[in-house]
Amino acid sequence: TSASLVLDPSFIVAPVNRRTFGTFVEHMGRCVYTGIYEPGHATADEDGFRKDVLELTRELGVSLVRYPGGNFVSGYRWEDGVGPREDRPRRLELAWHSIETNQFGLDEFARWCAKAGVEPMMAINLGTRGVQEALDLQEYANHPGGTAWSDLRAEHGAGSPYGLKLWCLGNELDGPWQIGHKTAAEYGRLAAETARAMRMVEPDLELVACGSSGSGMPTFGSWEREVLRECYDLVDHISCHAYYGDDNGDVASFLASAVDMDRFIDSVVASADHVGAELKSRKRIDISFDEWNVWYKDRSRLTDGPGDQWEVAPRRIEDEYNLTDAVVVGNLLISLLRHSDRVAVACLAQLANVIAPIMTEPGGPAWRQPTFHPFAITSRLAAGSVLRVETSSPLVSTEKFGEVPAVDAVATYDEGKLAVFLVNRSVDEAVEVTVDTSRTPVGEVLEALSVYGDDRLAVNSAQHPDRVTPRPNDSVKLGDGSLTVTLPPISWTALSLG
Ligand code: AHR
Repeated sequence: TSASLVLDPSFIVAPVNRRTFGTFVEHMGRCVYTGIYEPGHATADEDGFRKDVLELTRELGVSLVRYPGGNFVSGYRWEDGVGPREDRPRRLELAWHSIETNQFGLDEFARWCAKAGVEPMMAINLGTRGVQEALDLQEYANHPGGTAWSDLRAEHGAGSPYGLKLWCLGNELDGPWQIGHKTAAEYGRLAAETARAMRMVEPDLELVACGSSGSGMPTFGSWEREVLRECYDLVDHISCHAYYGDDNGDVASFLASAVDMDRFIDSVVASADHVGAELKSRKRIDISFDEWNVWYKDRSRLTDGPGDQWEVAPRRIEDEYNLTDAVVVGNLLISLLRHSDRVAVACLAQLANVIAPIMTEPGGPAWRQPTFHPFAITSRLAAGSVLRVETSSPLVSTEKFGEVPAVDAVATYDEGKLAVFLVNRSVDEAVEVTVDTSRTPVGEVLEALSVYGDDRLAVNSAQHPDRVTPRPNDSVKLGDGSLTVTLPPISWTALSLG
């Protein structure tokens, strides 16, 4: 079977937004402890940061990291995590039922971000806390000096302020599992008043209001409307969170997860624009898709009840990803890029160990999950402008979404350099794709990489870290004004041409 794509450099969606390549570090399971931070590890630097994980973070092409949660932030006292380590309290951590030692906190995170070369995105606790604590945190982080909180930061070794610009006003407060869960009206008011106060200090902050924790929530749609009615003029973005899986073994629907992500983004954009229209506002609220991933295997501590074990950095939701998961992650990134005109921020949740592209063993090695590869390659190759791609593709049937195109694609174009990202969502048929490049003239194929294989369930491990890696796709042929490439069944492909 065959498909075709038409590209045109004037079909511009928006410039490639580097913040599309964000990830997320939560105090959860082993994301921080024995993930990014492990004093005593053979690769640990003077701050206790694992250098092997720092290197993989750079290779992953991460632009931004959201921190410190997630559900964790809704019970977090940020002050616990600053100052001399020996004085920091151990606390019961209710969101993930563990002990938080506070050995890693805001100052460590700021230093880690500088070393990793990523922009920090800070979440505040609007579950158990409110306006005053948000202001204290802002003063500690961003005020130059001469006040109690800013001088304390200097005393802790950071003379210069961190200049945190991007803030999440709480996390998933629509969810009954959230500590300090709220109704839309309650949360909307709190978000508005927190934003108003924070802007009295720094008018130019970028603030994210919590949208729904998923499009399946009973309050989805009305939550966005009510929250934004309260805080439209005071915030910049509304959040989306989505996790995909093939819980029922329905592979065809799982492979088409990006169809759901496309709809989700379009619905939240419509909800936000609806409130903007009601308010007769010329301002536009964009989307912070600050949690997205595949997640369906390890539901530990979500279903098995609290029990009486309170451990430090227990193993939590350490999904082992396979080749099919990598193809879906690649397709979700295609969806995010395609919406670059409205998606201002996106964070793959999470970075290390917890539903993550990077895995580690305590005291042992770090390795790349299959999902690492489409993210790293897309981040490396996407440049210039995102182009809308006109696709004509055979259809595949799915239980959840009906008939959907087998081939999905997006492209970026940067002064003669073209990148095309494609997936074949067919479970059993290869598709030959013809790409019309007559309006985006290119002379040679610089790279053609695909993630595919005979075993769609193949995984990587500490012992076999490279079982699933991108392989050269030798089928690419560049002709005069067009190219052809064969996409194997269940595959993700990146083409770089110049
Ligand atoms: O990323 C794991 C969890 O998923 C986050 O803590 C929460 O915000 C979401 O429900």
